[in-house]
Amino acid sequence: MYRTNHCGELRLQDAGKKVTLAGWVQKIRRMGGMTFIDLRDRYGITQLVFNQDIHAELCDQANELGREFVVQVTGTVSERSNKNKHIPTGDIEILVDDLVILNESVTPPFTIEENTDGGDDLRMKYRYLDLRRPNVKNNLVLRHKITFETRSYLNKQQFLEVETPILIGSTPEGARDFVVPSRMNPGQFYALPQSPQLFKQLLMVSGFDRYFQIAKCFRDEDLRADRQPEFTQIDCEMSFVEQEDILQMFEGLTKHLFKTIKNIDIQYDFPKMTYADAMKYYGSDKPDIRFDMKFVELKEAVSGNDFVVFDSSEYVGGICAKACASYTRKQIDELTDFVKRPQIGAKGLVYIRCEDDGSFKSSVDKFYSQDDLRRITKLFNAQAGDLILILAGDKGDTQKALSELRLLMGSRLGLRKTNDYKPLWVTDFPLFEWDEETQRYYAMHHPFTSPKKEDIPMLDKSTGDVRANAYDLVINGVELGGGSIRIHDSNLQNKMFELLGFTKEQAEKQFGFLMKAFQYGAPPHGGIAFGLDRLVSLFAELDSIRDCIAFPKNNAGRDVMINAPSAIDEMQLEELSIKLIETKS
Ligand code: AMO
Repeated sequence: MYRTNHCGELRLQDAGKKVTLAGWVQKIRRMGGMTFIDLRDRYGITQLVFNQDIHAELCDQANELGREFVVQVTGTVSERSNKNKHIPTGDIEILVDDLVILNESVTPPFTIEENTDGGDDLRMKYRYLDLRRPNVKNNLVLRHKITFETRSYLNKQQFLEVETPILIGSTPEGARDFVVPSRMNPGQFYALPQSPQLFKQLLMVSGFDRYFQIAKCFRDEDLRADRQPEFTQIDCEMSFVEQEDILQMFEGLTKHLFKTIKNIDIQYDFPKMTYADAMKYYGSDKPDIRFDMKFVELKEAVSGNDFVVFDSSEYVGGICAKACASYTRKQIDELTDFVKRPQIGAKGLVYIRCEDDGSFKSSVDKFYSQDDLRRITKLFNAQAGDLILILAGDKGDTQKALSELRLLMGSRLGLRKTNDYKPLWVTDFPLFEWDEETQRYYAMHHPFTSPKKEDIPMLDKSTGDVRANAYDLVINGVELGGGSIRIHDSNLQNKMFELLGFTKEQAEKQFGFLMKAFQYGAPPHGGIAFGLDRLVSLFAELDSIRDCIAFPKNNAGRDVMINAPSAIDEMQLEELSIKLIETKS
């Protein structure tokens, strides 16, 4: 046995015990004839003491140790005179009388501490060292707990965990596929699953009426803080259910996770909001409802005063930032610069300050009288001291920009606390999205999502208005999960393919197996998938999902530690019948 205890375990009541510990040297301090070492393992830190007067040779040996050496020590647990309240083992130390160096270490490229001096790239290159840092390690511990509790909950609810294949054909979830060439079938390629969508539906046809899988998914899309090319879903499907059954089941899972992981008891039913309302009031299909600051539409109220910007805009809308009337010219200019950034795209920002004396100050004073401004601010229920911020332009773009401005103001006002969780179901998404460039409809969720029953008659005539039987779980402005009730009737599914612009042959080629399966008694079914990485990062209060993934990719989709992707040699290419063409890099 290398150790009798671990480094996070010993307490005052263990004083006097003879123990053996093993771990990494975190820190060495010399004070007079004493050497103190912080020994670290996965469970914590324990202080070791070497006394020159008692064990001179041992103390010399300890003084030679370097950071991250792996050592084994034996000694006696003793009460510390100088206690450290910041660590659980801070009341004790080990008076060492034997030391074995198990392995030496070269000097690590950054300090292995909570607040490291290592930049992102360096940490990723030496991710195995980064994972020794307590905060990163704790994220993985949290991830384990979440998957464990997820399995426990779903198991109790009779869900079966079934693995589905990774080398498959295309699964249309809206991103590009990662493809893998097949040596045995020259010129042919597998696609990696964007999700297990089709397989989980086939499992329903097979009669596994409650399926789940902690599934790896692969999507070749532009990366952001909440997107990785390779990520994990808690993927679920159920038969003989309607939307409400699914929402209840997975609201249950979410509450179970909050209770068991965060000790937060959510007693209420999660609120529901239609997609239409989410866009109208928050300009986003994933509204952050930790704070109110709803949009007020102003087109009617502000038209007809000869202010061309408002008169000529399709949409005029605003928000009321409480107690922000004291914003200086400079602060308002900053907000204007923010909304004018290319990624936000607004042309300008109009403000109305509600002054303490009941008057109004606005950037459009020239066009609007005090009475006009009072009338406008009333629509927001604004009080003296509030600041109204208004954007105008095309409806979709302006709502999006106003949504970003709302989030910024929410952050500035301290209304977006990371430990304040506000879940929300968003429902009734449009079934289709129109794409100007290709002049065709795309499925907003995926092509297997069922339209709402009452909207089926509109499929041909008002295709764009048809609502889907689809739902997202949103928490604090993050889309945590999404799902839908599926089409289980092959005629309706064929109709859907037709509306999405597939020819009969294309649909048959890509999804013929599913259509065939539906001819053999497909039960009504539906499901949902949670983004596990997003869930963990939400619980860990992280800004990016990267730090809750053991070995993530960087923003260019690279693993800088193992240097992937990389070129393969000629022979391998030949075996795969692949010839590379010159590309400009
Ligand atoms: P959807 O595409 O909405 O649905 O994905 C479900 C959830 O997966 C997470 N997610 C991601 N997380 C990290 N990186 C990514 N690139 C990424 N893409 C998606 C999100 C999202 O809500 N098959 C359907 C589910 C269903 O209908 O049952 C699907 O994959 O949290």
